[in-house]
Parts: sequence; structure tokens; C-alpha cells
Amino acid sequence: MSQDHESLENLLSEDRHFPPTAQFAAAANAQPDEYARADKDPLAFWDEQAKSLQWDSPWSKTLDWQSPYAKWFIGGKLNASVNALDRHVSQGRGSRVAFHFEGEPGDVRTITYAELLTEVKKAANALIELGIKAGDRVAIYMPMIPEAAVAMLACARIGAPHSVVFGGFSAEALLSRIQDADAKLVITADGGFRKGAAFALKPAVDEALKGQHNVEKVLVVQRTKQETAWTNRDIWWHEIVARQSSEHVAESFDSEHPLFILYTSGTTAKPKGIFHTTGGYLTQVAYTHKMVFDIKPETDVYWCTADVGWITGHSYIVYGPLINGATQVMYEGTPDTPHKGRIFELIAKYGVTILYTAPTLIRTWMKWGDEFPQAHDLTSLRLLGSVGEPINPEAWMWYREVIGGNRCPIVDTWWQTETGAIMISPLPGVTATKPGSAMNAVPGISAKVVDDNAVAVGNGRGGYLILDQPWPSMLRGIWGEDERYKETYWSRFDGIYFAGDGAKLDDEGAIWLLGRVDDVMNVSGHRISTTEVESALVSHESVAEAAVVGAADAMTGQAIVAFVILRGGIEHANGDELNKALRDHVAKQIGAIAKPRQILIVNELPKTRSGKIMRRLLKDVAEDRAVGDATTLADPNVMKLISEGLQSAKSED
Ligand code: WTA
Repeated sequence: MSQDHESLENLLSEDRHFPPTAQFAAAANAQPDEYARADKDPLAFWDEQAKSLQWDSPWSKTLDWQSPYAKWFIGGKLNASVNALDRHVSQGRGSRVAFHFEGEPGDVRTITYAELLTEVKKAANALIELGIKAGDRVAIYMPMIPEAAVAMLACARIGAPHSVVFGGFSAEALLSRIQDADAKLVITADGGFRKGAAFALKPAVDEALKGQHNVEKVLVVQRTKQETAWTNRDIWWHEIVARQSSEHVAESFDSEHPLFILYTSGTTAKPKGIFHTTGGYLTQVAYTHKMVFDIKPETDVYWCTADVGWITGHSYIVYGPLINGATQVMYEGTPDTPHKGRIFELIAKYGVTILYTAPTLIRTWMKWGDEFPQAHDLTSLRLLGSVGEPINPEAWMWYREVIGGNRCPIVDTWWQTETGAIMISPLPGVTATKPGSAMNAVPGISAKVVDDNAVAVGNGRGGYLILDQPWPSMLRGIWGEDERYKETYWSRFDGIYFAGDGAKLDDEGAIWLLGRVDDVMNVSGHRISTTEVESALVSHESVAEAAVVGAADAMTGQAIVAFVILRGGIEHANGDELNKALRDHVAKQIGAIAKPRQILIVNELPKTRSGKIMRRLLKDVAEDRAVGDATTLADPNVMKLISEGLQSAKSED
């Protein structure tokens, strides 16, 4: 029977522990006293962290909290781009490499901090020439090339909030974001390289701008040199930026000056313009980047594989690492071009020491097979990170063994576009990690798991993940939609931020993320998380990836239907024997209650462009309905293939 106040059953158990080696622990940036210092006085703790930034005027008060609105470091003034660039150059670090850029076709650019600063100053001067002033919004729609970071930093330098729109989004999605933020300028490129070919971006901008908008100019980076239609609103980046002065004295902006808007790629409804400001955001991204990734800027080569179009790219490619003076790898293309070992080849080539990626890519690598990572020397790696989804224990172990050579601590980092920076994660030199758990809130952050009445659940129990204290990098609202901000995040529990995720505490109080609460299934009155059943499936030797949904069932309310991708080398079949083996495996791992009613073998799963599985569409298939709106899928054909595959499997039965 389910407990009255228990919101989620606690099913899977895991007892493997991986403490840091003594050597790693001794040299780590974050030492165990970090937690005690933060707990003693969280505001004084954040005050101390903020002091590691360069401020032009000091703040008079750390926090002004009028729930649900926070202001941090009141009255302080600073410039984000100065913190990311000028500071390093003026302190003699100008010749350090900021980016090792690798284009998909294999073209290479090495960009130092001094060069990046010059480029950003020139771009800032170009924006000024185009009439952009502090407060004006600029939309950025770019491939993964260094100019994307330059454009963001140039906007920040002159106080113009940027709104980066992921380059994979359609013209329609771009237009709605341009309209919502009322952008005055769009920065784009002719195109970029992906999957072995040039793709075009500029035509989508032209298409978008056929709609209603107040965009005056479109600034176009030349990347692919493909044929590009031109209007008198368009300006080539290389023409206007090249002739600018490389002098630009940055102005200071208020700590609460808007830094950027980033639209969440919601699976339903109109996207939300998540809005972040300057001082608090920079403080928390810099602190977490330094402590969670243990960055040693003189010696590390750090690579975050995200796109700048997502929050991970904002916080852990552009702002956090540059403020910390890190050397990074930036890669334009896809992980399987021209071969499935591309990422590993680049790790070896640049001697990458810290890799930050997503479970979707880790599981894809598992599916492709161990021979690809094994063909390259990955011994430079010393720390691995994961973000974006719950990482199944099996994928975690594979990441540790095959990529990390059993040598590297893994930091599974939980956070959101809304939180701006990492909130829950191990500290790599302190925490004994457990495969599949994000472990604990980082120092200075308060996260709890609560029941329906906002009462904290005990160890061994599941519930809703909430944040009950304001934090420096929290969103300051939804752009132009105050009511929606309150309604979306602050209404489920009065005065408490509810993140939308389910979580459980294990017997030692470590936090296990269980996916979005809307992905919870209800089987015979038991609330079971899709994540736990998926992890059980992935722990079977034949399975690379699994997605689980609850489908309406006359007997049990909902029944579990699993979509499974087999590992490389396992014969692809809807074979009865494998089906039975997998169902029994889940029953053994979790209990008979979680045994899937049906297991369907597929080749692909429907994912959003940021790699999150769209279970809603699978549920349509499982319930034999027409598949709903699939426009946010990375590959719109996937649902057709899944439905067709199942039809032919049925007719063979
Ligand atoms: C999920 C990405 C489990 C979660 C930075 C969250 C995770 C949503 C993890 C935010 C993790 C992110 N373990 N789930 N380590 N990291 N999530 O806004 O559901 O793209 O609410 O930010 O991703 O996604 P977003």
C-alpha cells in the first residue's frame, strides 16, 4: 500500500559508493569545510563568493527577498564581459587559450583571452554603430562557433540583454521568441556544419522576419560561404566588425541589470522567457564551475559539449569558465561525424581533462559500442560531469569505466534554466558518489524533498523536489509575464519554489532525481517514477536506452509500457524470449508491481533538441491514439518510424 503522504514510491536501491581518491581530495578546490561555512551563514557565504568577481562599485546589501522576487548584491555595479575577459588580460593572462575551436569539417582556431577580448570589443563597437543601447534586446541564432560566444559577450558588455535561440529551431519558433522579447537586432550566420554538410540558418531568419517585429538590422557571420539571399537590413559581421576600433571602455551595470533571456523549450504551451540578471548569476556560475568541476585554469582543458543555445552553454561554456579563466574545447558538429569516435578523438587531441556532457549522449555511446572510446587515448581525463536528465546507474557505471577508466570522479549535476546554475551535485574531492544520484545540494543552497503538504519527507521516502531559500542565480521572472511566473513556480507550495521534478532521499539522505512529476505513473495506486523503471531496464546487459510510460489500463489504472533500444551487437528482434527476460529483470530489480505490461523494441526514441525524451508522444502510441504535436522533436520522423515498426511487428505476431 502507498503511504498517505508519500508522493512517489521508493523502489530501486543502490549500494555502490565511490569516494574520491586521497590524492584527488587533497588537491581539490572544494574541501569538506565548504558545507559548514555555507550552513553557518548562507548570506555571508554568498557575499564572500561574490567578492571573487571584479566590482566597480560595492554592494550595500546582500539580498532583498520579497517572495517570489529576489535581488542580490544591491547597489553593486559590474560588467559581465570585463569579468570574463579584461580581468584576465590586465592580470597578465592574455596569452592563455580561451577556446580551442574545432569545426565539424576539421578546421581549427586557437583563440587566446587577449584575442577574444579584442574581438568582443570590436563587436561591441559594431553593436553601438548599429544603434544598440543598454536595455535593447538582441536575438542570437547561431551555430556552435566562437562568434556565438563573442556575440553574447559583446551584448553583455554594452548592457543589451541577449536572447539566444538554439540554431536547430524553426523560423516560426525564432519569430515567436523575437516577438516576445521585442528584439531590435538579430545576430546569425549564413549557416554551419552538421552531419557532414552545410546547413543554412539565414533563410530561417528571413522567413521569421516576414512576420510582425521591430528588428532593424540582421548581422550575419560568414561561416559556410554558401549562397545567401540578401536584403538591405542585412550586414556582414566581417565587414562591420573588422573596421571597428579595438578600444572599448566597458560601462558598469547594476547588479540587477538584465543579462539575458532564455526561452525554455517547453513541450507544451508558449515558451517561457526565463530572465536572468548579472551579479548574482555570475557569482553562482563562477563558484559552482570552480568547485563542482574543480577547475585548475593553468592546467585543465575543459570541455562542455552543450550548445550555447541552452542554459548549460550560457553558464558552463560562456560565463562560468571564462570568469574562471579556463581553457576550453568548443566543437561545432555532431558526435558521429565523420565517425562515431569524433568526441574521443578530440579528447585525445586536446588533452581534455574535464568533460561535461548529457546522459542522452552517454547512452548513445553505449549503444554504439565500447570500441569507439577504446580506440583513443582518454587518459588525460580526470573528472566527468553529467547534466540534463537523470543518469541511470548503469549509464553512470559505463561512463565511469569506459570513459573515465575507473579513475575520474563523476559529478551528476541537477539544475534548470530557471535556477541558472548548478544546485545539486557532489563535490568531487569531498563526496563519496553513488551511481545515479546527484547526491546533495551544493554549499549555500537549500533543496528539500517534500510531500503534498510541503512537509519534508524522511530518508527512504520520495516526493517533490523544492528549493525553500532564494539563491543568487535564480530567475528573476518570466519576461513580461508576472502572473505566469507566480503561477508556474510559486503556487504549488506557498512561497516555495517547486521545480517540477520528483525526487527521493535514500537511507543516507542522498537525493535521487526521479524525472518530471508529470512523468509519474500510477499503477494500482502506486506512484512509480518512469526513471526508476527505465534505470532497471538499462541495467540489463542487452539494453542501451529505455523510455517508459503509463498507458491507460482497465485493470490497474495505468500499466507500464516500455520502449527499449538494444545495445550495439544485440540482435534486433521483438523476440518473446527477450521480452520475458526484460520483464523478469525489472521485477527482480524493483518488484513485480513495476513489471512492464508490454515491451517494445525500437531503433530510436523521440527526443527534444536538448535530448529530453518526449514521453507524451510514446504514451499516444501506447494508448493507440494518433500521435500529438511533435513539432519540438529533434527528428520529426522518429514517431513515424516507431509507429510503423510496431505495426509491422504486430502483423508478424
Ligand atoms: C532535468 C538543464 C536529473 C530536470 C540544466 C530539470 C536533471 C530539467 C538533471 C531542466 C540531473 C537536469 N538529474 N534530472 N542531473 N539535470 N535535469 O532547463 O527534469 O534544460 O527540471 O536545464 O532537466 O532542464 P533545463
